[in-house]
Amino acid sequence: MNSELLIKIFEAFTKKDDELFYKIAWDITEEEKRKKHHLLAEQLKRILTENSVTLHKNYSQEIPPIPRDNEKGFRLLDVKKFFLDWDDVVLAKETEEILRQIVKELEEEDVLATYGLKPKQKILFYGPPGTGKTLTAKVMSSIIGYPLVYVRFESVISSYLGETASNLRKIFDYMEKGKWVVLFDEFDIIGKQRDDPTEHGEIKRVVNNFMLMLENYEGDSMIMASTNHPHLLDIGVWRRFDEIIYFGLPDKERRKKIFEKYLKVMKKDKIFDFKKISEESDRFSGADIEQVCIDALKMAILRGKDFVSFNDVKKAISKQKQKMQAKKVIKYE
Ligand SMILES: Nc1ncnc2c1ncn2[C@@H]1O[C@H](COP(=O)(O)OP(=O)(O)OP(=O)(O)O)[C@@H](O)[C@H]1O
Ligand SMILES: [Mg+2]
Repeated sequence: MNSELLIKIFEAFTKKDDELFYKIAWDITEEEKRKKHHLLAEQLKRILTENSVTLHKNYSQEIPPIPRDNEKGFRLLDVKKFFLDWDDVVLAKETEEILRQIVKELEEEDVLATYGLKPKQKILFYGPPGTGKTLTAKVMSSIIGYPLVYVRFESVISSYLGETASNLRKIFDYMEKGKWVVLFDEFDIIGKQRDDPTEHGEIKRVVNNFMLMLENYEGDSMIMASTNHPHLLDIGVWRRFDEIIYFGLPDKERRKKIFEKYLKVMKKDKIFDFKKISEESDRFSGADIEQVCIDALKMAILRGKDFVSFNDVKKAISKQKQKMQAKKVIKYE
């Protein structure tokens, strides 16, 4: 590793400058990538992104205390910072265009304001599991540069029912305290049809409450919600969002790009054919493909090889198909 970077990262650590630390760690990752140390670069990147540091532990001065559920003391949200880019998620071209437009609107907020216009701010992601909804919210948070406030609805609701409305209030109050990308992930539970007879009256009240809070929200944060049960959302829910984005299963071309992305850390054998594996993975989600790639990479590593074999990928695809069959994957399209 470049000795200059090594010195800088030690300095950032001793100064407790986390922003600087991350920036240098990122430069080191980029340097390793340039040196074609793909495996190492990927590992470093993973450490920096997926296990990204929970900010409130490290930035206690900047991040207001995390609200908790009164009854059980659970944290109602998490604040994390990600360092991802557009190429970390392989999206349909139209989807990426819409998302880039949202970022652009935010960047040009002042110009829009001179015409009395506001950037889009409340976005709903829907689509089958494993298609990159949560990942995209992390990418958006990275690009916009606002930390991600991650709200898993289950933790808000699964606590004492009587507490739920107050939990929501706490989350919205928290949102007022900064500029965030707020992700209401797995929003299904609250978006369940309000007049669904199986729902408890309390939940219905909470849903109405949430809708009102969402509608009245005028703060500076970008709000995203994600669900894979669009049929559970009633008209009232849709109306509250400025943009609704569908995350579909990837087509052949996109599957090929996802395979390439997750297999780029290793060389391939001579008969390797990306086109074939893309064809054989019809109806696979991004997450399914990632799993196949991990399986195939492991097979290579455990065999002591430094290249991925085409047949191993094919085997991993068959295994994944069996798993998907077992799970009786819900068909969307
Ligand atoms: N389009 C994609 N491009 C690249 N990687 C993807 C894509 N979709 C999924 N993945 C991989 O699968 C993982 C899981 O995806 P993610 O959690 O974003 O799915 P999701 O749409 O939020 O699913 P769920 O509806 O079950 O919450 C991602 O972290 C990523 O590693
Ligand atoms: Mg998700």
